[in-house]
Amino acid sequence: MSSPLLCLNDLTSGYGSAAVLHDISLEVDRARIVAVLGKNGMGKSTLLKTIMGFVRPMSGRIMFGEEDMTNVGPNRMVRAGVAHAPQEHTLFPDLTVEDNLRLGVISDRLFRQRLPEIEAVFPRMIERLRQSAGTLSGGEQKMLLMSRVLIAQPKIVLVDEISEGLQPTMVNRMAEALIRARDELGIAVLLVEQHLSFALSVADQVAMMKLGEIVERGTPQELGEGDRLAAHLAV
Ligand SMILES: Nc1ncnc2c1ncn2[C@@H]1O[C@H](COP(=O)(O)OP(=O)(O)OP(=O)(O)O)[C@@H](O)[C@H]1O
Ligand SMILES: [Mg+2]
Repeated sequence: MSSPLLCLNDLTSGYGSAAVLHDISLEVDRARIVAVLGKNGMGKSTLLKTIMGFVRPMSGRIMFGEEDMTNVGPNRMVRAGVAHAPQEHTLFPDLTVEDNLRLGVISDRLFRQRLPEIEAVFPRMIERLRQSAGTLSGGEQKMLLMSRVLIAQPKIVLVDEISEGLQPTMVNRMAEALIRARDELGIAVLLVEQHLSFALSVADQVAMMKLGEIVERGTPQELGEGDRLAAHLAV
């Protein structure tokens, strides 16, 4: 059997000397969606930032395929095929939609070749190629963020609360985009979320994070259609 695409082994990390994540072990296989659920401040964004190399692990290991990536920086992760859609927006507001998308690809040729793929998922982005990104609505900015990730065709994308602030139709649209990325482009997804039904609708595996630890994990079916999980997320 081949090794998982991304494998975290007893990963501990945090800020200064304070650990936020404690002994996280998690695997994401190729073309699979894994969702980590948790309330505010539980360590979800820290997990993605640690994988990307923005936050250095205190102990444990990050394997990407056969390679040990525990102490490499974000540049190296991106080159290996790991994309990050962070919680805070990282679009260039003064650039057009098209120029923001072009930042995701290395050549004109790839841009033209992959644009139809974006059109299939988010037709609205194609209608707005000449509009500056800063003038898009909040939901459209999230679509652009996802489009920029998808046009890069990474091996895995780490997605931080993409459903936050989206109306139900837009949440469904995001779910379709992720499922399409998995099924048609073979992209793996590690999603961190508070939106339970969204996570359950797309994920092959879910894990519940509490105070930096994983306290439950399984398939959406195994975790009882979400009742136990909902209790963990209740405020
Ligand atoms: N740069 C930082 N320096 C110090 N502490 C930080 C830093 N970033 C995050 N933290 C702390 O780490 C803990 C986890 O934060 P994190 O952002 O990972 O949570 P989260 O699960 O993503 O929350 P949310 O759902 O609100 O986005 C919090 O207590 C937070 O205050
Ligand atoms: Mg967060």
